[in-house]
Amino acid sequence: MSSIGHVVTVPSSVDVTTSLVVAVGKVLIACEFSGIVRDAFLDRGHDAVSVDLLPTERIGPHYTGSVSFFMPDFDMGNCDLLVAFPPCTHLAVSGARWFKGKEKEQAKALSFVRFLLELPVKHIALENPVGVISTKIRKPDQYIQPWQFGHPETKKTGLWLKNLPLLTPTDIVEGRNGRVHFESPGPDRWKNRSRTLQGIADAMAEQWGNYIDTN
Ligand SMILES: C[S@@+](CC[C@H](N)C(=O)[O-])C[C@H]1O[C@@H](n2cnc3c(N)ncnc32)[C@H](O)[C@@H]1O
Repeated sequence: MSSIGHVVTVPSSVDVTTSLVVAVGKVLIACEFSGIVRDAFLDRGHDAVSVDLLPTERIGPHYTGSVSFFMPDFDMGNCDLLVAFPPCTHLAVSGARWFKGKEKEQAKALSFVRFLLELPVKHIALENPVGVISTKIRKPDQYIQPWQFGHPETKKTGLWLKNLPLLTPTDIVEGRNGRVHFESPGPDRWKNRSRTLQGIADAMAEQWGNYIDTN
């Protein structure tokens, strides 16, 4: 199926299947089921599309499938910016006690990160919590916290950047609660913990969107 610029089928969060003509993508949001960062770029006039193994939670330009299979169809010459949120299950220090016996899974997760960082896109940002990417690949260019972007919470998160400026905090607030650590158990727990916060999505779209327009 389907590359950007063709008709693709986009299941919505309410399971209604809708056909959309997806614009030629200039901004690719990889490993995003929520549509939050994609929509922040769309709201600012960028052509943005998301890709994830899961359907998008919000109707919008989205490819349901693997980014690996997706890319050969995708016109890299048309992609100015890749923002990627690869899974952290086998990479984050919060899961370190499970690392033993999971060496293969961790190696696979690291090679996925390398694959994303090495894609031939001019501007790349890859996001992941504190973890082994720092020691096995390279240190992040910066760490950010939700409380720097209007959310009174802590979740130290690394950004690995290529040809992009550091993200500048937009709204430093006082609260430091650890909501993501205390999310109630349930099938949606990992989703609730991993959705990008709106303040961070807005900062990415505003600051990096403006940057790629002029660089
Ligand atoms: C940590 S979550 C990121 C969620 C994101 N912050 C959001 O707001 O939707 C990682 C996502 O990577 C997706 N994923 C894993 N392997 C993938 C692949 N090969 N291609 C595309 N998406 C993939 C998972 O389905 C999961 O939704």
